[in-house]
Amino acid sequence: MNPAKRRTVIAGNWKMNFTPDEATAFINEIKPMVAGKDNCDIIFCAPYVTISAAMKAAEGSNIKIGAENVHFEEKGAYTGEVSAKMLKAIGVEYVIIGHSERRQYFAETDETVNLRTKAALAAGMKVILCLGEVKEQRLSGITNEVVGMQTKLDLAGVDAEALKNVIIAYEPVWAIGTGLTATPEQAEETCGEIRKVLAAMYGAEVAETVTIQYGGSMNDANAAELLAKPNVDGGLIGGASLVAKKFTAIVDAAQ
Ligand code: 13P
Repeated sequence: MNPAKRRTVIAGNWKMNFTPDEATAFINEIKPMVAGKDNCDIIFCAPYVTISAAMKAAEGSNIKIGAENVHFEEKGAYTGEVSAKMLKAIGVEYVIIGHSERRQYFAETDETVNLRTKAALAAGMKVILCLGEVKEQRLSGITNEVVGMQTKLDLAGVDAEALKNVIIAYEPVWAIGTGLTATPEQAEETCGEIRKVLAAMYGAEVAETVTIQYGGSMNDANAAELLAKPNVDGGLIGGASLVAKKFTAIVDAAQ
């Protein structure tokens, strides 16, 4: 973290978990546990049908509720999709875009990730843009090339002003849901590499202001040493974001 230069953000990605009632119970449980812990932003990204209940439960607290994806068109014949206009209409500010599960299971490409990112930003939303290499790419020594290319393609056409509303989540795919966490050194090196690419695109001064999270089996036991790295500005947390005690410990590590 480098709180002098950029905001630390601890975000949960609930994925396909929590009904509205379950989300309400979870937020009611965790709300007092994270109250007043203001050295980081706290966000939970929820399934579409759960968002409103979670927002209601989070009212008046330091917890924000986001979405897990958004389509790039405002409306139309796109069965099963939700637009930025719709999310804005119910008060959603944050949205995850480009998660590796979307890329892997739902055929999202850097092109669609870029379209979704631009649409969300144009609608005035804040984007958590996910990228990261798969295991074979890391083993082949091409991680920097992969994340560099994703950064450039996913942010094509996003100017420095719009970039203020982008958080990048570096999520090595081999670390997601596997219990295999990147070492703090690996996370630092790759988050630093992403910042170098941002510096080449937007200038060093702008790049220094961008929050770059790490995601992939981050938990209560490993968060402190990951967050101690200067280029790791927070976490995007899957499994541990479903357990109030574990998520709170990660928030504590960011204080
Ligand atoms: P896990 O924390 O369960 O590995 O998931 C990480 C993730 O995919 C967050 O978006």
